[in-house]
Amino acid sequence: MTRDIQRIAVNTGGGDAPGLNAVIRSIVLSSLRRGWEVLGIHKGYQGLLDTSKIIQLDRDSVRGITHIGGTILGTTNKGNPFAFREYTPDGGIRVHDYSERALENFRALGLDCLMVVGGEGTMEIAHRLFEMGVPVIGIPKTIDNDLEMTDYTFGFQTAVEVASDAMDRLHTTGRSHRRVMILEVMGRNAGWIALEAGIAGGAHVILIPEIPYRIENIVEKIRLRAEGGSPYSIVMVAEGAHEEGGSAIAQESGATRLQGVPQLGGVGFYLAAQIQEHIALEVRCTVLGHIQRGGSPCAFDRVLGTRLGSRAAEAAARGEFGNMVALRTPEIVLVPLSEIAGKCRTVPLTSQLIHCAEAIGINLGRQNGFS
Ligand code: F6P
Repeated sequence: MTRDIQRIAVNTGGGDAPGLNAVIRSIVLSSLRRGWEVLGIHKGYQGLLDTSKIIQLDRDSVRGITHIGGTILGTTNKGNPFAFREYTPDGGIRVHDYSERALENFRALGLDCLMVVGGEGTMEIAHRLFEMGVPVIGIPKTIDNDLEMTDYTFGFQTAVEVASDAMDRLHTTGRSHRRVMILEVMGRNAGWIALEAGIAGGAHVILIPEIPYRIENIVEKIRLRAEGGSPYSIVMVAEGAHEEGGSAIAQESGATRLQGVPQLGGVGFYLAAQIQEHIALEVRCTVLGHIQRGGSPCAFDRVLGTRLGSRAAEAAARGEFGNMVALRTPEIVLVPLSEIAGKCRTVPLTSQLIHCAEAIGINLGRQNGFS
């Protein structure tokens, strides 16, 4: 599908992640150099349904934004045009398919390419739009790092930095007070943040969604540490972690009904109560939450975002639509959206990260599988 490009648009969808503005700036600068016009679509795919807030992105609009968190275009995780959820007057939820409207608006705007920056949900929608004839290019974002076919998504390294810094701070309190300190981090289906930040921050226990835990294994680890002269422990837990035979803990609210996806959170406090039942040490829990997603991207995410953005413009120039740009160290490559849509990259149980954690004595909630 090659075409002479004159006007492209970019949107950012799903949860924000540090590095989004670096991507937008990179797309804009590399597109302007090619003589293209760039439009910014407000709030992910929602801005394709209501086009009244579309803006022109010029050099001035992206000046000095690389280091700024969030996204100048706004974002939402409630804007799927194929399954748009709206409240009915009686408080129920109705789901509409507005994809034809999105397509009509794309055409009416005279666009030659749509660049979508987002996670798995955003890529799946991009793939469906591509199948309807929209020339799309995907750019992988998520602090969870759970997108297939890319070594890393941008945003992840910043989240790991923030979480490992929090671990350092919890260490000093844990040690001084002789407490068990729990840190709950994000990681809906995948434990990448918990695992990397846990290793970086010297966790004694790391719980991830991929390995259901047994409380007796955690208690045993804490007890052995105390008996060995270390009467404190630091526990890192991903929000999606759960007990063997259990499921992730979620909060119900009006917002989650509209979003159609449960809002995870609470496993840290649940775990604290479980541990406290068996251990004389005081147990405390900290939930890091959106602190991991906000603020300035680290240098790695700024560079990765900039590389992905410029490679996306190059792909558009070559008419390589229906693909996502991806990091295959050291290159930025293209992978078909069809191979990413509907998939989630969890931590493989054979991962060297898991092996490494257990090799140095970190407990992952199971009997140490290290040999
Ligand atoms: O997908 C990224 C993520 O940070 C998940 O880890 C987390 O479950 C979710 O976003 C939280 O989203 P929200 O901002 O809607 O609460």
